[in-house]
Parts: sequence; structure tokens; C-alpha cells
Amino acid sequence: MKVGIIGSGGREHAICHSINKSKKINKIYCFPGNAGTSKIAENIDINFDEFEKIKDFILEKKIDLVIVGPEKPLVDGITDYLESYNIKVFGPNKIASKLEGSKIFTKEICKKYNIPTANFGIFKNKIEANIFLDKSNHPIVIKADNLAAGKGVYICENKDQSNQAVKEIFEGKFGKAENVLIEEFLKGEEMSFFIITDGSSFQSFGTAQDHKRVLEGDKGKNTGGMGAYSPSRLISQELEKKILNKIINPTLKAIRDLKTHYKGFLYAGLMINNNEPYLIEYNVRMGDPECQTLLPKLESDLYEILNACCESNLDKIKIQWNKKKSLCVVLCSKGYPDKYKKNVIIKNLNNLNLETDDYLFHAGTIKKDTHILATGGRVLNFVSLSDSFAKARNKIHKQINNLNWEDGFFRKDIGFKVIDK
Ligand code: AMP
Ligand code: GLY
Repeated sequence: MKVGIIGSGGREHAICHSINKSKKINKIYCFPGNAGTSKIAENIDINFDEFEKIKDFILEKKIDLVIVGPEKPLVDGITDYLESYNIKVFGPNKIASKLEGSKIFTKEICKKYNIPTANFGIFKNKIEANIFLDKSNHPIVIKADNLAAGKGVYICENKDQSNQAVKEIFEGKFGKAENVLIEEFLKGEEMSFFIITDGSSFQSFGTAQDHKRVLEGDKGKNTGGMGAYSPSRLISQELEKKILNKIINPTLKAIRDLKTHYKGFLYAGLMINNNEPYLIEYNVRMGDPECQTLLPKLESDLYEILNACCESNLDKIKIQWNKKKSLCVVLCSKGYPDKYKKNVIIKNLNNLNLETDDYLFHAGTIKKDTHILATGGRVLNFVSLSDSFAKARNKIHKQINNLNWEDGFFRKDIGFKVIDK
């Protein structure tokens, strides 16, 4: 079988690595991939917003299954587009992808189906929003409706900050804004909860916790994710049951009530307070870097699982996992998430001595001649599995020290809640 993977991050390298383990696979193409995927797949220099070029290539090479990694092409309707040419695609369609593409769409589903989430209001202009903010308690959360690559969320400590957030959103900082979403600030601990579904049945696909802030102690600016670990320390059978009953099932029903279905990974960003789950947001894809921690724990054939989803046969598949603890540390370019140098050589990559249960997934890298260059803010994902999170993290730190990349930095405290007391 031939598989195409759309995307170029650590998540897509992890997917590529997992798919490559299947005996059924004889060729993988990545659109456009990175230096890591180029070792196991053929990177095709087509970006994920070039739907027509991707379609032409897939048809020409007779690719059997396409897996979409990032949210942007899903929200823009790549699944519907490719399926209209009879291409098999793993990833939700445009309507279902509104769960991530529009925060207001999701909030309205929560209201209609009684899904626990932060209380909220939707305001059409600055004046209405500011009148509401005048009588609200802070902290309060202000969000742009549309996709904003994780940047359209403001946690505001006082009225000046909240007025400023509303101003920036309506001034178009995250694209044209017709509404702003204002939410109650939820207390508790966050957890990422994943399922996979073919539209009629679904299965849990693990839990993780990520570290979004750039500085140790979860401080500083938000990033795409500085590290993660799986499983979350919060998960229990009882909590999982609540999440499925109160959040996942009603959401999938809401999508069916729209006369469509959800096929793909669904990632629920949850706040857990007193063992009760509240939905913060949905993502219509795997998390990055959560995916890098989850897939190495998977013992079943990923290709078979995804293909079964596309053939509405997921209920015939048993998904098996190992019980190890998995941790990922992201090595970033110095300066990220602000300005950083591009096309910097990463030396010593060949000196790394990865052992069983150690993985290196590339993100913002390209191969040029014999060199690997860092091109992105998040550059390399070091993942390790062990019987304890502490051991996994120690193994990773050893690897990063061996690499000794002077233009990079990383957070040394990934997993502190499950490691450091
Ligand atoms: P989102 O893009 O909606 O996931 O928001 C980004 C981050 O902002 C989340 O991971 C949370 O850390 C935080 N956040 C969003 N909404 C809330 C809320 N209502 N209460 C507390 N924190 C929130
Ligand atoms: N790790 C957060 C995300 O993938 O959105």
C-alpha cells in the first residue's frame, strides 16, 4: 500500500514512523515532510494548502490512503476536496472540523447538548463586550472565534487587559472578527484526551499532558508546545467514563444531527476540577507534541487502524498499547517563540546513540546536501519510554546533552507534576 501524509511537524514524523512499521506499507510520501521523514518516506515539495497539486500527485501515484496531520487543511476542507476525487482520506470533513475552526460553533454545541464547559457570552462588537466586561469578575478569558494557531486566547487579569484583548480581536489581529467569545476562567488541571472515530463507533486513543508555555514552571509566552507526557496523571476509569458520557458522546451526536459524521482523531482539551471534566476546546487532529508521546506506546498497526476508520470498520479493530510512561522534550531554536535564526546547521546528529524506547522526531528541519538545518522554532522532539517518567526524562536529557546544539534550548522541567515533588 502507498500512504500520503500531509504536514511537516514532529506529529507527522511520528505518524510516518508508526505507519512505516506496518507490513502492508511499501511507500510513504510526505507533503512536504521534514529531514526526519526524508529518511523513511519521499518528501514531496508541495505545501498543504496546495490542494489541487496534492490531488494530482495522489492520483498520479495511485496513493491508497491520505492522512492529514494539521488542522488548517482540515478546516479548509481538504478531506471533502480529495474525497470528491474518490481519494481515501483519514481526517474529518469541513463541517466536522468546525469543532476546531470555530470556537463559537463548539460553544453552541456545548450549550445545546449540555456539555460541561466554561460559562460564556458571544458579543458582536466592542461596546457590547466592554459593557459586559465592566460587570464581570477577573481573571476572565477572551477568545477570537477562528483558527489562530493557538494565539487567539487571552487570559485577562484585569479590565485594562480584557478591553485591550477585545480591541485587538476586533481590529483583526486574528483575521476578520464578527464576534468575540468571553468565557469564565476555569480552575483545575488540564489534560488532553484523544479518541479515534469512523463516524459510527469510536475508541479512546490515550491521554497526555502538554506544556505550552516557553519557560520553566509553565511561565512566559504560549508556544506550539515545549513537551508532553503520556498518560496524564489525572486519568482513571471513572473519569474516562464521565468524559465519554458527558463530552464525547454528545459531541459526536451533535455532528450526526448536522447530517454528517466525524472521521479522524478528535482531541478534547479538558480542564479537570474535583474529578469533573470541562471542555476547554476541541482540536480535530492529533496534538503536537502529544502525538509524539502516544504513538510509540501503540502496539497495534496504525495503518490498519486508520484504514479501518476510512472503511467504517473501526469496531472490528482492537487497539493495543504498552503500559510504559512516555515523555517528549522539544528542542527549540534560541529566541522561539519570537525571532530566531533560520537555516542553522545542527551538528552531531549522527553521534546520537538512540536505544530501544528512545525516539527522535524532527519538526522544523530540512536536509541540504549532507547537512541537517533547523528552519523552524520547534526543531527536534526527543521521546523516551520507560517504567517511570523520571527515567524517561533522564534518558532524554542525556541525548540532548550529547547533541550539544549551541543554537537550541529546551525546558528541563517537562513533566514536573509527575516527576518533581
Ligand atoms: P484554547 O486555544 O482554547 O485551548 O486555549 C489555550 C489555553 O488557554 C488552554 O490550553 C488553557 O490553558 C487556557 N484556557 C482557555 N480557556 C480557558 C478557560 N475558560 N479557563 C482557563 N483557562 C483557559
Ligand atoms: N499541544 C497542543 C496542540 O497540539 O494543540
